[in-house]
Parts: sequence; C-alpha cells; structure tokens
Amino acid sequence: MSLDGAELDRILAVAKDAARKAGQLLLETYGTIEAGGFRRKSSARDLVTETDVASERLIVEILRGAFPGHRIEAEEEVQDAPDEDRPRWFVDPLDGTVNFVQGLPLFCVSMGLYLGGKPQVAVVYAPVMDEMFATRLGGGASLESPQGTRVLEVSGKTELSESILATGFPYRREVLRPSNLENFSGFFFGVRGMRRMGSAALDLAYVAAGRLDGFWELYLSPHDVAGGALLVREAGGVVTDSEGGEDWLRGGHIVACGPGIHGAVRQGVAGPDPDWLA
Ligand code: IPD
Ligand code: CA
Ligand code: CA
Repeated sequence: MSLDGAELDRILAVAKDAARKAGQLLLETYGTIEAGGFRRKSSARDLVTETDVASERLIVEILRGAFPGHRIEAEEEVQDAPDEDRPRWFVDPLDGTVNFVQGLPLFCVSMGLYLGGKPQVAVVYAPVMDEMFATRLGGGASLESPQGTRVLEVSGKTELSESILATGFPYRREVLRPSNLENFSGFFFGVRGMRRMGSAALDLAYVAAGRLDGFWELYLSPHDVAGGALLVREAGGVVTDSEGGEDWLRGGHIVACGPGIHGAVRQGVAGPDPDWLA
C-alpha cells in the first residue's frame, strides 16, 4: 500500500483540522489549572490533566471518523494493535503538559502518520501563538500563523559556536543513565546558547523553522517525535538517532539539526545506555 500526493494532501487537511480543534480545546483550560488539577504519572515531574485526555479523545474521534482503516497510537489511552500494512497515527494530544500546568505558553498538539515505519504526514500546532507547522512527504513544510504562511527551511549554520541548540531531560532522570546532563555540559561552552523549552514536538518544529539550529533528546516516545521529525526532514534538515541510524521513532533518542551542524551535534551526544534502563 502507498499513499499518493492527492491522498496525502487530503489526510493533511484532516490532520490540521483535528489539531486546530484540539488546540482550541487546550486554550479553554489553559491558565486555569490549579493545584489538584493534574495527576502524576511516572514521577512527580510527569503530569497529566483532564485536558490531555479530552484532547486525545477529540483527535481520535476525528481520525476514526475520517480514516476507519487507520491505526492509532496515542499517548494517554489508545494503543491499536501493530499492523505494518496499515497507516498508523502517533498522537501527542498535549506536548508540554508541565508548561501548560505552569501557565507557560510553549505547548502544542503533535500528530504524525506513518506507513511501513516511514513518515507521511505531520502537524504540530501551538495554539497560544496560533502557529500551524504542517507537512506531507515530498511536499515541503510550511508554517501558517497570524503573520501569514511561509515555507519552512532549516538553519544553514555550519559552526556550533554560532548555534542555538535545544534539548530536554527525562522525567525519571534519577534512574536513567546518562541523564543527558553530561551531554548538555559537553556543549555548554561551545555553543551560542542552549534552550530547554519543555516540548520536544515544538523543539522539532522550531528546528524545521530555523528558529533553533539543532535539537537532541534521549528517552523520548514515538508520540513526542513522530510529527516533528518529518517537519525537519521536509524543511531540509537531518534526523537520525544518536548513533546516526534510523532508530529515532521507537529508539527513544533523536538528533535533528540543519545539515551543517548535524554531524558535530551527533558526535557530542552519548545515547542511552541500555544497561541503565530501569
Ligand atoms: C514531554 C516534553 C518534554 C520532554 C519530555 C516529554 P509531555 O512530553 O516533550 O519537552 O523533555 O521528555 O515527555 O509529557 O509534555 O507530553
Ligand atoms: Ca510529549
Ligand atoms: Ca503529552
């Protein structure tokens, strides 16, 4: 099975509609979450709200209605059985939940459609800024915002000393090795700046937009990276795992940069040690 350009465009239109509707839903409770308005998941740092779940239900309802043959793997509730022959959605209904709870505007809805393990369609929507990052395989990546629509292009930087890199740290940082602090320290004095924004999907979208020169992170889940990775590639960037291979969707470690610095960033990133995985 393959999806042609017209079909990918049709799927992308539905994905954008779902992400916008979910984003509007997030805005209804953003800024109103009080103590007790969230639950802890894997640790005291890993939070989930009723809004995460409501956003996922809305997206899943739209996707099931439009594409009954597709499979869905979403963060909170839905894990369809594996089926390599069918298109599969990875959905993060609210990436950046800690920011959302804290009242920080850096959060988004992220969706990616894969077929045979390959990315086909992706959207990352940041509702506070009303920014829609969208792409489909072979179609380039774009940003629709109140400022207009533009084609996305990754950074052309070639020097780490001129680069802004972003990363994140795992919730279970006490038990996971490396904690990523070692990687962070390795870049600390050699780059123009480091950012830790709290939304991996938005980090990737910002790499696609050239706002960040590069991003890496360890211990991520498929729903965190599925959307942003295709945005980076379609904007001319390089996406690999920390060994330079293709195991970035399920492998948990990703390096995504403009082509001029990807090699240097990857060399500075030590990936997860499987012996330390709890
Ligand atoms: C988290 C964010 C964060 C990253 C974490 C993710 P969530 O997703 O993307 O930036 O550092 O590893 O789990 O929990 O807000 O959906
Ligand atoms: Ca996430
Ligand atoms: Ca989430």
